[in-house]
Amino acid sequence: MTKKDVLKIVKNRKIGFIRLWFTDVLGFLKSFDIPVEELSGALREGMGFDGSSIEGFSRIEESDMVVKPDPNTFQILPWIKEDRPVARMFCDVLETDGTPFSGDPRYVLKRNLEEIKKNGFVFNVGPELEYFYFRNTGGTEILDKGGYFDLTPMDIGQDLRRKTVLMLEKMGIEVEYWHHEVASSQHEIDLRYKDALTMADNVMTYRMVVKEVAMNNNLYATFMPKPVYGINGSGMHTHMSLSKGSKNAFFDPKDKIHLSKTAKYFIAGLLKHAREICSVCCQWVNSYKRLVPGYEAPVYVSWAQRNRSALVRVPMYKPGKEKATRIELRNPDPACNPYLAFSVMLAAGLEGVKNRYSLPSEVTDNIYEMSESERKKAGIESLPDDLFEAIKITEKSALVRKALGDKVFEYFIRNKKDEWDEYRKQVTEHELKKYLAIL
Ligand SMILES: Nc1ncnc2c1ncn2[C@@H]1O[C@H](COP(=O)(O)OP(=O)(O)OP(=O)(O)O)[C@@H](O)[C@H]1O
Ligand SMILES: [Mg+2]
Repeated sequence: MTKKDVLKIVKNRKIGFIRLWFTDVLGFLKSFDIPVEELSGALREGMGFDGSSIEGFSRIEESDMVVKPDPNTFQILPWIKEDRPVARMFCDVLETDGTPFSGDPRYVLKRNLEEIKKNGFVFNVGPELEYFYFRNTGGTEILDKGGYFDLTPMDIGQDLRRKTVLMLEKMGIEVEYWHHEVASSQHEIDLRYKDALTMADNVMTYRMVVKEVAMNNNLYATFMPKPVYGINGSGMHTHMSLSKGSKNAFFDPKDKIHLSKTAKYFIAGLLKHAREICSVCCQWVNSYKRLVPGYEAPVYVSWAQRNRSALVRVPMYKPGKEKATRIELRNPDPACNPYLAFSVMLAAGLEGVKNRYSLPSEVTDNIYEMSESERKKAGIESLPDDLFEAIKITEKSALVRKALGDKVFEYFIRNKKDEWDEYRKQVTEHELKKYLAIL
């Protein structure tokens, strides 16, 4: 879509207002509306805004910033039913001299993708975002007794899921399938994979649409990684591959498991840097309440075909399905900043390709049942236990600093340390229940 195309559609469809969307460093969607009269100016030179009010952007002394809409992301918002429809575009954040703002997460991803674009590669990403429906933000009362792939009467979400899929499709987002997930009140809608930048924009839109539809039906949808103790948390398994033209660079017909050398180096890179990139893929204190043994969420750094206890899973090869050759990273959660998470995943994988890392042996056993010493002998490390351990490892990572850029990296480390500091001072319900009566 070009600027001209956008202006034409806006005229033909009598669009009234445009929402300019962008993202702060923690992955929260930010937006302000302009009337269509402002659109051609915004497309040409962007719209000014106060960057000092956005998390991680700028200090008050240098707060003038510009958002420039990307015409390729133009979409009409299907849930706003008015005479003059409202459309949205994702924007790139710029300095007032028009240069990209290094603190803009969308720019961070573009910069990382540039590296492979030069050699004609595309980074394909297919994330599976799980989420819960609750009555409201006041509590986590379970709304149904459904499990994996269950239906009425145990599944209250099927109508909402379908309504959500219809909205997503109206916004040009392709959906592969949708179902009730393992935990009660938990759901999943699977998006068809796309190049990483389009998919990061789609993840932002997906979260917005899921919440919008829930709200319009008097429910609340959350991507909180672990809202309820004792049942599965919500993950964002992320399927990945590299392609060149129509060729899937992860596929090798001659290989025993049909994986190319590039794919094996990429897996080895993800494993070697898994602990460094963990704080970006699982960025909240609550994220680590999900990464505990026993809930299908990965805890140990390993890879395997089929085996869902591994951190990196290679889904089984299906003859004639070369295009679907991919790898799945299983620790990310849906409350991450997709622009930053996809950036560090790509950086870690590429580090393996560039340095031809050797791939550790596949772990076919159920790692959860292995003893500490067996894991040690097999050289299997654990993911960080909590956000503090994760952020300390990231802080020392040259790979993550380079992928995120100094501005985002330093802000992220500072922000996450503050979050941990606030958390560790809390006196929790659990402590009161456990200690008040006995100490
Ligand atoms: N070549 C590819 N590169 C990247 N992603 C791909 C590729 N081929 C398929 N995908 C994506 O992989 C994802 C597969 O999701 P699917 O739910 O089938 O995975 P799964 O891990 O087997 O399922 P589950 O975790 O629910 O048991 C989809 O988003 C799909 O679009
Ligand atoms: Mg999966």
